[in-house]
Amino acid sequence: MTEPFDIVIFGGAGDLSFRKLIPALYRSYCEDKLPASSRVIACCRNAQEQSAYLQHADEALQEYLAEGEYRTEAAQAFIEHVYPVELDITESGAFWQAMAELLNEYRQRVRVYYLAIPPAIFGVCCQNLAKYELVDERSRVVVEKPLGYNADTANAINEEIARYFDESAIYRIDHYLGKETVQNLMALRFTNVIFEQLWDAKSIDHVQISISETVGLEGRAGFYNEAGALRDMVQNHLLQLLCLVAMESPHKMKASSIRAEKVKVLESLRPMRGDDVKRHTVRGQYVAGNHKGKLVPGYLEELAEAQSNTETFVALRAYVDNWRWARVPFYLRTGKRMKQRCAEIVIQYKEVSHRVYDRDAGALAPNRLVIRLQPEESIQLTMMAKDLDTLDMRLQPATLNLNFSDTYKKFKSDAYKRLILDAVSANPSLFIHRDEVAHAWAWIDPIIDAWQSDAQDPHLYRAGTWGPEESDELLAEDGFKWFNAG
Ligand code: BG6
Repeated sequence: MTEPFDIVIFGGAGDLSFRKLIPALYRSYCEDKLPASSRVIACCRNAQEQSAYLQHADEALQEYLAEGEYRTEAAQAFIEHVYPVELDITESGAFWQAMAELLNEYRQRVRVYYLAIPPAIFGVCCQNLAKYELVDERSRVVVEKPLGYNADTANAINEEIARYFDESAIYRIDHYLGKETVQNLMALRFTNVIFEQLWDAKSIDHVQISISETVGLEGRAGFYNEAGALRDMVQNHLLQLLCLVAMESPHKMKASSIRAEKVKVLESLRPMRGDDVKRHTVRGQYVAGNHKGKLVPGYLEELAEAQSNTETFVALRAYVDNWRWARVPFYLRTGKRMKQRCAEIVIQYKEVSHRVYDRDAGALAPNRLVIRLQPEESIQLTMMAKDLDTLDMRLQPATLNLNFSDTYKKFKSDAYKRLILDAVSANPSLFIHRDEVAHAWAWIDPIIDAWQSDAQDPHLYRAGTWGPEESDELLAEDGFKWFNAG
């Protein structure tokens, strides 16, 4: 994109904006992707927020950029692109009039409206954009999660936005799709004959997709306690990753083909109801524990409540009922305050069909492909090879390691930067279609219903561990173990 553009951040002084969006836009600036005269219009709720904004933006850059990324001169030059404005989103009148005048200084430009605000005010925000004639074929709206609380609320949100924006102009963001290794997963699958030939129930034993976090509530107690890990992480990020692992090859790398294939996967997820939910899911909640030698509080203490049965951890077994994946378990797991921060996809291959070496040569470990999204981005393939340290015929696992942070030393991946720039250049491939949202909720809702009617408390786990024992038992029932990083 070489043309200047305007991005309007509704919720400009919010946590997401300072933590992710402003740093992402700074990085875009540093890579010459914020053409001169482009504007970052940050909406503030009041005049105090507005007057302190530029100072806060600068502090946010210092705090949230990686080491060595902040450069005073570049930050100052970037900040010249930032226009804080006071706007009461719900109040149609002078504020919106001023916004319209500001935007209409450049009528012909691409405009990205970023809704980093609670879904309850998405509707009124879009309505005011339409009322002040700020929606046209060059404008797009980026929508942040949570996209609803269940299928009905998600549908209501989508309906409301659809009154003012065409589906092709709605960019539902899932920042996991902007992570480089996620895109690499598609490159790996669809450009290498060696993987695609071995990507089905004939060769693959099971798949593990795990996102473990070490953080707790991070000041989002109200939201999180209502949502829980299933809604916060599984409905979106984990199911999206599952889709990318399980989907068929799209006809072309274009949005409509990719999304159509993902929808087919979501439709093929085996529904879980009643007792299935008990058998295939584990809910957990952390209690105080040690993380890196420091005592961290439990969930209830962080929440300052005596009771809550919100899950901060989920592990589940899912099946994709189609020809390619028949009977292959997909284990999904996510949790807060776990032992390590890590997101990875593990493709565990089957054992060889016949052993040709004597037992003396050592045990055989089946092949394993590990696609790591964070903390560092890498792809590792473990295979058996001869131990070269001895003349004897001894076998041992050896790992082919493609470590992107080593290979591309200068590369700084930033999912938000990538996705914002995709929205600017009208590339929706890595955004979520309304149908995907609906199908994902249709699978999640019955799980939540079953948990609610069961009324069982979540299993407790100590902060700084890999979750409750029941999560290990879920895999042990099938003869497997979680592959824990580190
Ligand atoms: C967000 C969740 O979508 O993803 C947070 O709402 C979570 O609870 C975050 O911490 C994790 O993102 P990342 O990129 O840090 O793994």
